[in-house]
Amino acid sequence: MDNIVGLIGRDEVVADLVAEIRKGKHVVLTGSVGIGKSSVLKAALDQAGSHVDLIIRLHDHQAKGQFVEMARQMLELDLVTAKELELPVKFHGIVGSQIDWGEIKGQVNRLNMRDLTQAVIPALARAPTKPIIAVDDLTTLTPTQMAFWLAIFEHAQIIGCASEKKAGVKKLWWKMREVQVKPLPATVIREIVKSYVTAKGILIESPEQYISHVIKQSGGIPQAIYDMLDESGKERIIDKRKVREMRHDAGVQYLDFTPMVMILGALIVSMRYIGMGTGDKTLYIMGGMGAALFLTLRFFIFKGVGR
Ligand SMILES: Nc1ncnc2c1ncn2[C@@H]1O[C@H](COP(=O)(O)OP(=O)(O)O)[C@@H](O)[C@H]1O
Ligand SMILES: [Mg+2]
Repeated sequence: MDNIVGLIGRDEVVADLVAEIRKGKHVVLTGSVGIGKSSVLKAALDQAGSHVDLIIRLHDHQAKGQFVEMARQMLELDLVTAKELELPVKFHGIVGSQIDWGEIKGQVNRLNMRDLTQAVIPALARAPTKPIIAVDDLTTLTPTQMAFWLAIFEHAQIIGCASEKKAGVKKLWWKMREVQVKPLPATVIREIVKSYVTAKGILIESPEQYISHVIKQSGGIPQAIYDMLDESGKERIIDKRKVREMRHDAGVQYLDFTPMVMILGALIVSMRYIGMGTGDKTLYIMGGMGAALFLTLRFFIFKGVGR
């Protein structure tokens, strides 16, 4: 979608990422789905371009697919040989750029993760300069696949995105600098909406009402902004009623009941002390039982909301 309006309002985070890339750090870009991690990654790699020789870009979201993509690009870059990948003899000795991927795709696909890593890791290790591996999504990585990635981390610089840092693979996260991609501020959303509306020639009855509605409903997530803009693009004219009906899940604010839980807890505990002070046994017992019940429930409540 940035082909319509370009990447707006991300200069700072892109510069941060470029700096980490130049320092040779492994980096994980975090932020919710659609917030712009992949776009920031791409922009940073383009900018850092002159400082990095070997880039391997992985777009698949599954580990197996990622390793197949890795093998393919390393073959094309002559970092790994057809022989090491145990491809048929007729491919041995052919330079990477001449190998027809269509012909060997099935064979590489059939290799398992172990075979792939066994070929890929020594090849990464002997590369003339340390390769950068840009991974579009590391979110679905499992603890089993983590072992393969840990080996890769030794011989390449990994720059990846994750919408969630799953606890099962936290050893990987420990090795990476985190760069957070945050929701876009209102001024940037305004800019995006304006250029999109102009580019697509959408007629809007009350632009200000429209913009503030998009700001509220999108929660600052570019993907949500575009979802709404695309919907609007289908209409001939956007009147005030249509704006009021616009909804996006990204902007839905869930009620945060933490303060209420805390107040309830304080009330129950004070009940017990008031009972003790005034000699009111019933109040004392009720307060004690209430506190015990509260502590048990609180454990489940917080577990439930993922604290
Ligand atoms: N700062 C931005 N300005 C304009 N468009 C953006 C911006 N950030 C992201 N986009 C667009 O929003 C969509 C989602 O971004 P993407 O990078 O794929 O998010 P993520 O990788 O975090 O899921 C894409 O269409 C992208 O082009
Ligand atoms: Mg992405």
